[in-house]
This record gives sequence, structure tokens and C-alpha cells, in this order.
Amino acid sequence: MERHSNLKLDPLAMLYLAGQWRELVNLTSDINFKDSDGNHCYRIAALMQLGKYKKVKNELRSSKCILQGNRNRLLRVLASGVFCSISKSLMTLQYMSEARRSCDRSLDVLGLPTVPDLVKELRFQEQRRQLGLPHIEMYSGSRDCKLDISSSLAKLRKLRPDLVSLVVASAEYNYEIGNYSESLKEWQEVAALMPDGMPSEYYARSKKAYVANKGFSSYRKNSELTKGDVDKYAILEWLHTSLNPSFYLEIGVQRGKSLEIARCEAVGVDPMPILDKALSGNVTLIESTSDAFFESHAYELKEKDVDLIFIDGMHLFEYVLRDFINAESVSNENTVIVIDDIFPCNSDQAARARATKVWTGDVWKIYDTLKRYRKDLNLVAVDAYPTGLLCISGLKCNEYNLKSSYESIVSEYKDVDSVPKEYLERAGAITGRESDVFKELARLFGKLKTNS
Ligand SMILES: C[S@@+](CC[C@H](N)C(=O)[O-])C[C@H]1O[C@@H](n2cnc3c(N)ncnc32)[C@H](O)[C@@H]1O
Repeated sequence: MERHSNLKLDPLAMLYLAGQWRELVNLTSDINFKDSDGNHCYRIAALMQLGKYKKVKNELRSSKCILQGNRNRLLRVLASGVFCSISKSLMTLQYMSEARRSCDRSLDVLGLPTVPDLVKELRFQEQRRQLGLPHIEMYSGSRDCKLDISSSLAKLRKLRPDLVSLVVASAEYNYEIGNYSESLKEWQEVAALMPDGMPSEYYARSKKAYVANKGFSSYRKNSELTKGDVDKYAILEWLHTSLNPSFYLEIGVQRGKSLEIARCEAVGVDPMPILDKALSGNVTLIESTSDAFFESHAYELKEKDVDLIFIDGMHLFEYVLRDFINAESVSNENTVIVIDDIFPCNSDQAARARATKVWTGDVWKIYDTLKRYRKDLNLVAVDAYPTGLLCISGLKCNEYNLKSSYESIVSEYKDVDSVPKEYLERAGAITGRESDVFKELARLFGKLKTNS
């Protein structure tokens, strides 16, 4: 059993131990931390790790008297840096166990009472991440970690809520201590902090929390309530049968429930699918983010008759807007694009920071955007169970219609947090019994293919 309950860390020391050099330098530059003696040692060590030797020289010169009283501490921190650099060189050569030993040594030489294995692991993983090396399985030893990592991280995150790596560290930590829903929420926060798209490497790491999570403790009564008379899968079935697409594209596969409806040639895209069963032969699964997928496959898709596209990936507005723009660019004049989750049942479900199991995020904004900016489209909202569907036809194939306005639209909606009543109440959506809904859909979409 590790004994480390007497190791109290301030937030900067935590960043230093976890090897988050850039954040440490940012923090000590932004706020006047650097005047405190011990903290300045950490700042200098971080600058060295980042290769900013000129800066180190200047700072050592200008803070001579502060550092003189801390000579031993500074020497230890610098020796630690040497071991850390050796460890990184060994990592790049794939000498993993030697790299791990040097990384541990970089913490041992600091002379702290006991550094918990978890902190050693955080530093090791962080150095790999900084080198762009893939994440490897984390330490799975004692979870009885009394070290106050969470409160250190929470303090830091209050100071710098925009720092992605702090949220990543917290998500990793929460996963390690078995707090999976918190970890998942934090990964979702990482996605929201990276509006240009969360990299696949982070998705791979968040998958573990996604799989392990058994649910969210909703903070308000009724926040998981859902509505809609006709199940969304029944509507997808109907669309497949009636439109009889030549090729089906799906963004966001998860367990494969919607993808398995496809009878035609189909591609499903998801950076972290968790399939329950094998897919049938007509279906290809591509483990990738939708952004990366469109970037590398758009050309091939334009050669196909992509007649039906289902967008159900990351439930954040800027992601969905990009998915729509990219989907439209590979569509043809008969294509129908279907977007899930346009109707949150309450404001908790629509929050960008996920706190509920039923989570639509701010996908409703895509419906709002299309109503305002694309009056040329045929938009048909359906009061589907559980969180509504939007079916779109009349697409302008091979044109990036909203691409040039992407940035301005995203910034226009950036601070819009409250969901307009019309989306909560599903105003104007096709509703009623299954047969009525299908009849109305047939009137609007059913004949598309045969008309062409
Ligand atoms: C709600 S689930 C999809 C459910 C599925 N369509 C169904 O109805 O059976 C959302 C999925 O989107 C995936 N996802 C998240 N970000 C994504 C991205 N950037 N690109 C593609 N898929 C993404 C998640 O991994 C998750 O599996």
C-alpha cells in the first residue's frame, strides 16, 4: 500500500509533478506566481523541458537572490529534468521499461516524502502525449490515493478554465479513481474546448470512460424525460425502405443500432464505436472522427450515389454544422440528410457540458441555422422519440454553401445558452400516429427517387 497522505501539493507543484510544462509556464507568466521562490524553480524546470534555454538564462540571472536560498531545491529540480529528458529519448526509441524507470527517477530525485504511483503514471503518460506517442494502458494499481489531486486540479481549472490539458488530466484522474461519469463529462468538455475537433487520440482515451460509465446522476428531477410518438429507428427504417438508397452514410455509430438498418452499401463513421455484434457484409465501419473521414474520403464519396445520410455524431453545434456542410458537399439532388437530436426535452439535455444520460447538446442550433440561412432547403422536422429528427432535401450538391459563413455562424451562437421554446415544444414538427407520420413523410420525401 502506498503511503502518501502527508504529501500536500499546491496546484503548481501538481502541474510540475504531472509534467505539464506549457501550462506551468503559462500560469507563472500570466499570474505573478514566479516571484515565490519554490515556484520559480518549477518554472525554470518547465522552461528547460520546453527548450527555452535563452529564457532560462535570463531568468536565472534576474532572480539570483531568490534562487540562492533554494540552491538545493533548484539542483534537485534540474536533476529531475535531466532524468525526464532521458526518459523522453528512451520513449522515442521504444525502450518503454527503461523510459518508465527514468521517468520515475525524475520524481524520486526531488526528495519528496513519497510520490504516489498515480502521479508517476500521469507524468509518464503526459510526456508520451507531448511527444505525440499514443496513449498506453495506465497504471492499474491501488486506487486508494489520498493525494489531493482533484482539488489541486479543480483550483487550477478555476484559474485557467480554457486549458485543455488540465481537463484531460482531470478526466484521466477521474477514470483512474473509478469516477467514470465525471471522467466522461470532462472528455465531453475537452471536445467543447476544441471547437475545430477533438483528435482521435483523445477519443481513444475517452472510450474507456464511455464504456465503463453506468449512468449520470441527473441533477434535476425529470431531466431524463423524453417524448415523441414514433421511434426514431422506425422512421429510419421507413426512410431506407421508401427511398431505397444506393449508398448510406452514417456519422456516429456507437452500438450500430441505426447502421444495421441499412440494406444497401453503407459506411458508418465513429472514432470510438462500441459494437454489440458483427456488422453485415454491406457495411463498412471506419474508426475515425467525421472531420478526418470527410477530409480523406470526400473524393471517393462523390463518386457514389450517397442518397441517405444520418448525422448523429458529436452533439455540439460546431461539430454538427461541419458534419452538415461536409455531408451536403457529397450529396446529390436526391439525397436526404437526417439529423438526430434537434429537440431537447428540457434545457438540461441541451447543455453543452453534458450532465444527463439523454443528451442532445446544442444540436437544436443547426435547425435554427438552416431555417435562417438556408431557406432554399426542404426542412421537415419530426416529433420522433426520443429527441426529434430533422429530414432535409433539396440539397445543393457539390457546393459548400455554408462553408464561407461557418466561423460567423459559430460565433453568433457561441453564447446562446437558452433553448427557444419552439424547440422545446417541437413547434411545426410532424406528429401523430406512426401511419400519419409515414403518410406525411411519403408526401414530402417518398417519391424523390422515382421522380428523378
Ligand atoms: C448517439 S451515438 C450514435 C448512435 C447511433 N447512431 C444509433 O442511433 O444507434 C453518438 C456517437 O457519435 C460518436 N462521435 C462522437 N464524436 C464524433 C465525431 N467527431 N465523429 C463521428 N462520430 C462521433 C460517438 O463515439 C458515439 O458513438
